[in-house]
Amino acid sequence: MIADIVVDLQYGDCGKGKVSHALCEKKKYTHVIRYNGGCNAGHTIYHEGKKFVTHHIPCGVFYGIRSVIGPGCVIHPETFFSEINKLEEAGIPAKKLVKVANNAHVITDFHRAQDNKDNKIGTTKRGNGPAYRDKYDRRGLRVEEDPRFSKYMINMYEELYENEKFKELEILFEGAQGFGLDIDWGDYPFVTSSHCTVGSAILNGVPPKAIRDVWGVAKIYETYVGAKVFEGEDEIFEEIRELGEEYGSTTGRPRQINWLDFDMLKMAANINGVNKIVFNKMDIFDKIDKWNLLYGPNMYQFQNRDDMEFWIKSKLILEVDEEMEIFFSGDKEKI
Ligand code: IMO
Ligand code: MG
Repeated sequence: MIADIVVDLQYGDCGKGKVSHALCEKKKYTHVIRYNGGCNAGHTIYHEGKKFVTHHIPCGVFYGIRSVIGPGCVIHPETFFSEINKLEEAGIPAKKLVKVANNAHVITDFHRAQDNKDNKIGTTKRGNGPAYRDKYDRRGLRVEEDPRFSKYMINMYEELYENEKFKELEILFEGAQGFGLDIDWGDYPFVTSSHCTVGSAILNGVPPKAIRDVWGVAKIYETYVGAKVFEGEDEIFEEIRELGEEYGSTTGRPRQINWLDFDMLKMAANINGVNKIVFNKMDIFDKIDKWNLLYGPNMYQFQNRDDMEFWIKSKLILEVDEEMEIFFSGDKEKI
């Protein structure tokens, strides 16, 4: 069994969907598994020239790959079925390919109502926090208790191990949210309610020894959506927001912008053990022609794209992993 993991190194919205989609095109995965979160996620994918925004369903469906919502996830039935139908209407055989783990938890209307009522941290109001709270309080509702899922339900152990071909399984784990939103490592309490690191993928039933590559995904600048003040003081951030279309794909809220925080990136790369990193949105810096990042208490301003790429590559190779492979957006063909 082989597993690759896609993990976001910042505050979500770094382009995990895009990287997963590119990997599905290149590798021979038998499964794509979403390992955390619920419909608070919003993954924008361009497939054959058409734009899709998925909340629950992993991107394997676009390539005819079995796509599983794993035990670490919480799932909102109405959103799930509406996503299935939209994909089917677009000619994607989602009914055949999508499966849901019987021990994932259901987001109920009550969870949604609660998330809408008490929202000091600026959640996506999708019921995510209350659903995880009830899971850990041992009074949640599991998928196996909701008959609406019967046609989609699988047992993860049977799927992965009681399968003649289990030794040949090749799995892509697609994460949701990101390191800065992780319940343990993020800026608590301005975090989501699940684990957003590689550990979370492992919790879905695959042994650590199966891991081949950990793909860290970042943007060349940072964005965050939620209640805390995050945006830096620079007029250019307004321009970045417009050029980068930095509005939440789930809630439509404007994302707050700041320069890349290199120390946090390094921490996320270390804790996730990433051996490949993709930096997205380079085209936005091409347009504004500013090449800045934050390092310690200082802002570094590079002259051009080459200088910035060189600095980032050298730092990551010297200080995190000498075998790290680093890609900048536009490098899709090299992935
Ligand atoms: P993807 O998968 C960006 C943020 C919310 C809020 C905090 C907690 O698209 O990267 P929650 O609804 O999870 O209880 O909200 O987390 N948030 C995200 N921000 N992308 C996401 O997912 C997010 N999912 C949650 O804005 O600050
Ligand atoms: Mg998002």
